[in-house]
Amino acid sequence: MKVQTISAIDALRQTLDQHRAAGRSIGFVPTMGFLHAGHGSLMDAAAASNDITVASIFVNPLQFGANEDLSSYPRDLENDTALAEACDVDLLFVPTVEEMYPFGPVLTSVSVDALAHRWEGSTRPTHFAGMATVVTKLLSIIGPCAAYFGEKDYQQLAIIRRFVADLSLPVDVVGCPIIRADDGLALSSRNTYLEPDQRVAAAVVNRSLRSAASLIEGGETDPEVVMAHIATIIDEEPLAELDYAAAVDPDTLEVPEQIGDHCRLLIAAKVGKPRLIDNLGVTRV
Ligand code: PAF
Repeated sequence: MKVQTISAIDALRQTLDQHRAAGRSIGFVPTMGFLHAGHGSLMDAAAASNDITVASIFVNPLQFGANEDLSSYPRDLENDTALAEACDVDLLFVPTVEEMYPFGPVLTSVSVDALAHRWEGSTRPTHFAGMATVVTKLLSIIGPCAAYFGEKDYQQLAIIRRFVADLSLPVDVVGCPIIRADDGLALSSRNTYLEPDQRVAAAVVNRSLRSAASLIEGGETDPEVVMAHIATIIDEEPLAELDYAAAVDPDTLEVPEQIGDHCRLLIAAKVGKPRLIDNLGVTRV
């Protein structure tokens, strides 16, 4: 069926209220567009478990810092619409900045301080409050639903789970596995910025995590040793520069004194200009 594009908040609310009144469940996939197979997997998961699937495309200015790529962020609505249709999305919500923020800069902000100021937050201090604010707003527009987010942005997912619980939002947050290229690189809209040689080098990011996972599965419990192991592998790739690597508790994102049965490996590294992030769950059996 052809996807219906809606850009007004009121019109979307009315349409979804009618679906809910008819007893239909709603699956929601928020995105910033330039959709790829990773987003496709979220839309497929939403369509498989819900009667009506909504995806939003909104490049949210609040989550970009002053020196970040807001104006050059890649956009391709034609391709996004085709992919959404192929994934059985029923409604595509594509609001303008004026529709979302009609009073100019928002005075209200949602922040989850304890989770937001480390890792990605240490170099992007305003990013997670901007993200949490727009996701709260989108969830308030959509209403009761199951909302699908990729594990690729693991810190984002942890923050969303926490504010949805803290604010008792009527939303079931569903985390979906990372979709990877054959060499392990996590799919991301920002991969389009990689030059051909950088694209080859970028495989080191996931390779370093898999190697660290083997180390932990082999018995290593010291997070510092694991971090140094990742740093050594990244150092061996001349085009890559490590920002951070860590073995953290999967919920609090804190580095434990000793790695227990479950941990999450986090990494951010620059490969040329693009800064890539990745993560991997490790369970010791
Ligand atoms: O992950 C993203 O694409 C964005 O952070 C999100 C969740 C759509 C909010 O703008």
